[in-house]
Amino acid sequence: MIKRTSPIIVGNWKSTPRTKEEGIKFIKQLEKKIATSKNKIPKKAYFIAAPDIFIPHLIPHAKRGYIGAENVSGLELGQHTGMEIPSQLQSGGADFTIIGHSEVRKLGETVEARAQKVANALHIKLTTILCFGEHKRDKEGKYLEELENDVKNTLSLVKRELFSNLIVAYEPVWAIGGAVPATASECFEAVIAIRRALASLGGIDYAKKVQILYGGTVSKDNAKAFLEEGGVDGLLIGRSSQEVSTFVDILNAVYTQK
Ligand code: PGA
Repeated sequence: MIKRTSPIIVGNWKSTPRTKEEGIKFIKQLEKKIATSKNKIPKKAYFIAAPDIFIPHLIPHAKRGYIGAENVSGLELGQHTGMEIPSQLQSGGADFTIIGHSEVRKLGETVEARAQKVANALHIKLTTILCFGEHKRDKEGKYLEELENDVKNTLSLVKRELFSNLIVAYEPVWAIGGAVPATASECFEAVIAIRRALASLGGIDYAKKVQILYGGTVSKDNAKAFLEEGGVDGLLIGRSSQEVSTFVDILNAVYTQK
């Protein structure tokens, strides 16, 4: 069971590393670096989304963090070759799953498919990090309207009582995997739009329970600004979570004592 602390620092390993041994080595080094950090990093400090098959191998070493999946199927138990459903991930030890990452959306995941995935995952209380984000921005601000509609449509099958296991990630597609992150203020306006959509679905009280992350070219140099000025409760980190040193640098930047 995930005990939420704020901020939530999530690494997304994508199709790395090559072997489970490399993954285990990473987690062991990460644990050691956190334990010996001069900053006060909390007991449970990180989430790592890893390739499914590595999850059970990583869990015994991840004392200070949570290990989860990068995607899940929205299909029911039955005849679906190669599809892992939420209860299978949970039974294999996954603490959470990401759903709707833009790299999955790009391969043809529809809003309907995503809505079914998140409904099924939350139904069994599998903590879900649900991703949203525009491909590009227009001067009129239509992307904010589209963002709101996307949130509403994707969560249309979810009862608001289940919002307590939902985390939303705002990941502008133009900022992922590139050189230029969003600014904290660009992030802030998107977070307002997402909160507005959540409130219209579940009411203010339920909407407030949902933690929102920013993702897209996060580094040690911008991490703190997103948390302090971007209106988010955490970060979703791709490339900089795939090396122990850059991931620990971000944790240290977030928890630097003033
Ligand atoms: P990035 O990826 O940090 O490498 O931009 C973010 C993500 O894909 O979640």
